[in-house]
Amino acid sequence: MRMVVTGATGSLGTLVIEGLLERLPTDRVVAVVRSREKGAALAARGVRLAVADYNVPDSLSAVFRPDDRVLLISANDPTADRVAQHRAVIDAATDAGVALLAYTSAPGALTSRLADAHRRTEGLVLASGLPYTLLRNNWYTEVFTEQLPLVLHLGVLARAAGDGRVASASRADYAAAGVAVLTGDAAEHANRTYELTGDTAWSLAEYAAEVGARAGRAIPYRALSYDGYMASLVGAGLPEEAAALLAGADVSIARGELSRTTPDLSTLLARPTTPMPHTVARALHGLLPA
Ligand SMILES: NC(=O)c1ccc[n+]([C@@H]2O[C@H](COP(=O)([O-])OP(=O)(O)OC[C@H]3O[C@@H](n4cnc5c(N)ncnc54)[C@H](OP(=O)(O)O)[C@@H]3O)[C@@H](O)[C@H]2O)c1
Repeated sequence: MRMVVTGATGSLGTLVIEGLLERLPTDRVVAVVRSREKGAALAARGVRLAVADYNVPDSLSAVFRPDDRVLLISANDPTADRVAQHRAVIDAATDAGVALLAYTSAPGALTSRLADAHRRTEGLVLASGLPYTLLRNNWYTEVFTEQLPLVLHLGVLARAAGDGRVASASRADYAAAGVAVLTGDAAEHANRTYELTGDTAWSLAEYAAEVGARAGRAIPYRALSYDGYMASLVGAGLPEEAAALLAGADVSIARGELSRTTPDLSTLLARPTTPMPHTVARALHGLLPA
């Protein structure tokens, strides 16, 4: 049985592939990549490559086999028709009759525009009739820590998330959950929906305090309105469309749509999830003077 991972050269996919290679012989792992060049390092290690593009359904027609377990990692371009992109993968997996189709979705409570493509994709997965697993990933903590250079430069965390809390976990935690589902007991994970969250939800004020404590100076959290945050993002040069997605995601946090914690992720990992302060410490390593 092969484990097939789309988006294999992305940040999450790279971690999933590494996790699979720790558990399985190399030739049972298939990385779906957009070009052989992008997958060259994996191929050099013996990982099988399948070159395909979500935008080109024909490129997906020979990728899957009947006994494959597949992880469809959601597409990353919010300006593209992501449902059509995901449909191309789901149709190809359905034609092949794969053994399991897992999909990286978004929290069920999310109402922002980001959630719409995920909800519609979940509908396609269910309609396929394939055994499926929905991995509803809460936010990666790295979504916040990747902005730390700017936050440290400005000396303030200015966002539109109000007092909302985020039940985030590390990207590596979600990757390990994907590995656990692909390599685990098929009967246990088939036709299950997991709400994957960190064990502890935190507020942006707590996050800013954590950054400040580690940076050795106060980093206050300034709660902006949606319009105020939009203005600051567009003013910093972000296209309106991208700014609206970021500000909309903050509104979801403010509404509490990302605050619910569940035991699903720590149960799949058989360990606690990675706490926010741990990811902050890792991200600050190298950003702060030694
Ligand atoms: N929960 C969260 O906090 C969160 C945050 C950000 C994103 N996400 C979602 O989770 C997904 C995985 O996260 P990530 O951090 O790994 O994102 P990422 O690093 O941007 O990776 C996205 C992957 O999708 C591939 N891809 C994009 N368009 C494609 C296409 N047309 N055909 C084939 N492959 C395509 C990319 O290929 P290339 O390597 O060739 O570019 C890349 O491998 C994202 O795509 C997004 O849907 C979730």
